[in-house]
Amino acid sequence: MLNKLTRRKKTVSDDTKKDVLHGDIPVHIAIIMDGNGRWAKQRGLPRVAGHREGMNVVRSVVRSCNELDVKILTLYAFSTENWKRPKTEVDFLMKLPEKFLSVELPKLIEENVRVRITGDIERLPEFTKKAVNEAVETTKNNNGLILNFALNYGSRSELMDAFKSMYADVREGVLDEQHISEETVTDYLMTSGLSEPDLLIRTSGEIRLSNFMLWQLAYSEFWFTEVLWPDFDQENFYEAIQAYQQRQRRYGGV
Ligand code: IPE
Ligand code: IPE
Ligand code: MG
Repeated sequence: MLNKLTRRKKTVSDDTKKDVLHGDIPVHIAIIMDGNGRWAKQRGLPRVAGHREGMNVVRSVVRSCNELDVKILTLYAFSTENWKRPKTEVDFLMKLPEKFLSVELPKLIEENVRVRITGDIERLPEFTKKAVNEAVETTKNNNGLILNFALNYGSRSELMDAFKSMYADVREGVLDEQHISEETVTDYLMTSGLSEPDLLIRTSGEIRLSNFMLWQLAYSEFWFTEVLWPDFDQENFYEAIQAYQQRQRRYGGV
């Protein structure tokens, strides 16, 4: 039944793919996958139906990233503020990683994808932790796309933890206060070792960051669309990259 309710997904032609591949491909793409609840509501379905449908879009975006040789894809899957939602919805969201990985992990391994998690997974239910830890562990030697799930992630709590760790390290003499630089701060964040997102995509028409990567997005290019995440298709994804390719990144210079 859901299939009938889903907008027909559009793919792009080989010519468009070639064009895009000739341009500058973002190394790191981050996506705030938003609009699942509204997608479901529009169809008279429970909100969780939107989350289930959104999972299929993750599959297709991972595939597109592989085709374009994007190096890092970060997906905002659950924020530290999302605990405020009704328990039934939170419970459903906590089951998604296991559901997704039980089907996708073999394919991800085959596609040389490396799974990574950014966020505080200690607070997640045991079965969620187990599923994501297994995915991280079994793909740790892969050197293709890094598929980074921001799970129980919040930028302010990440920054606070980084400041606390820096303070502790200064006190213990491990870190020299005089030598704290922007790179030091970057290294104390949960995203340590990953380059900053070049392109941030947010679906569903909301024009805000919702506590996502405040430090890391300082010079990223932003692209917003009204399309709800479960409807987001390959054409939309390429549209975002084509828009990125038109941007002039100046970093404060001329
Ligand atoms: C995004 O969709 C998924 C998560 C935040 C987990 P929403 O559930 O926020 O959908 P809307 O914004 O209510 O439509
Ligand atoms: C941001 O979406 C979090 C995720 C996509 C995981 P929200 O739907 O939670 O953000 P707000 O509440 O609209 O700011
Ligand atoms: Mg939302």
